[in-house]
Amino acid sequence: MKLHPSTLVVHSGVEPEEHTGASSVPIFMGSTFHQKDIDTPQPFDYSRSGNPTRQAVEETMALLEGGTRGFAFASGIAAMSTCLGLFSAGDHLIATRDIYGGTYRLLDKVWSNFGVETTFVDATDIEAIRSAARPNTRGLVLETPSNPTLAITDLRACATLAKEQGWLTIVDNTFMTPCLQKPLELGIDVVVHSATKFLGGHSDLIAGAVVVKDDKLGKRIGFLQNAFGAILSPHDSWLLLRGIKTLAVRMEASQRGAAQVVDYLSGHPKVKRVYYPGLSSHPGQEIHCQQAKGAGAVLSFDLGGKDEVKKLFAHIKLPLVAVSLGGVESILSYPATMSHAAMEPAEREKRGIGPGLVRLSVGLEDPDDLKADLEEALKAL
Ligand SMILES: Cc1ncc(COP(=O)(O)O)c(C=O)c1O
Repeated sequence: MKLHPSTLVVHSGVEPEEHTGASSVPIFMGSTFHQKDIDTPQPFDYSRSGNPTRQAVEETMALLEGGTRGFAFASGIAAMSTCLGLFSAGDHLIATRDIYGGTYRLLDKVWSNFGVETTFVDATDIEAIRSAARPNTRGLVLETPSNPTLAITDLRACATLAKEQGWLTIVDNTFMTPCLQKPLELGIDVVVHSATKFLGGHSDLIAGAVVVKDDKLGKRIGFLQNAFGAILSPHDSWLLLRGIKTLAVRMEASQRGAAQVVDYLSGHPKVKRVYYPGLSSHPGQEIHCQQAKGAGAVLSFDLGGKDEVKKLFAHIKLPLVAVSLGGVESILSYPATMSHAAMEPAEREKRGIGPGLVRLSVGLEDPDDLKADLEEALKAL
């Protein structure tokens, strides 16, 4: 039976627990496991290599993304770092220039030291990707909708190009979650998540996840996960599992709220521009609709300058003003000094991350309350 995401998140096949019938997977805190026979491998031997609670969340993620293997990591960046271990010195990567600042830092300032060079391109333009190709190009790193300008990359077209060229494709699916977008079904090889965000959903956890479909790739990532050791702890695996159970309803409600806030902000005289893939005026909206089931719960808007942003932040009451997104509470952030602080000002400017840009992750508050709060705060500008 093919189940819908809202059913899968609740019945992901990991419950009831096989020994006691408990409704929740236990938190297996053991670092190691007694081996009954040293010649017969058991399912678990050491918790870095595998842990039953972590395995439960890894299987859940694989099921949700339509993959065969899932992997849970200590953070989204740990997940991405581990995937980049698939490449070797001398390899060249192409990455979208509209990428999370920490991923940019990882590629530009860390992996570059190990001989993996990255060219950043405007991935909304497939020709720009094609032109960046070199004989040693091995991978394509994408994020759509991107952070924070919600730029849309055509995943099917990128997967086709990458297959022609023999490149490995990696997509950060944090903003959409498997409830709204399934990159593996569009031909992408590796899906990466900051599970800190919508998957965890409660701003109480730092976690990452990777899902792949191909068996051999699964074995390589499994090897790298154990080799790097940046695994998710049993306790945090349980928290993530708990968060995922309500993912579908949270995404639906937050997305509904985001659409209403976008509607409101789009008509506000002090708002210069709204970035949201649900707007018909948003570049790439048609492509987004073909590859995703919804526009999500993250939007950005431009107030013109930093002074205006500071006034808004000083008067807003409901959203947290913080780094991060995807929580039950709305979160307002200032990409220039938060998510994209790791990027040089000139690089930020190229990506449209100007001094007036604000990102809003819409939570589960009543959208009327969010709009009223914005209305009052915008009066201060
Ligand atoms: C789109 C995206 N990818 C990856 C990351 C990194 O994840 P983490 O903070 O869990 O390491 C973030 C964090 O903000 C993000 O927004």
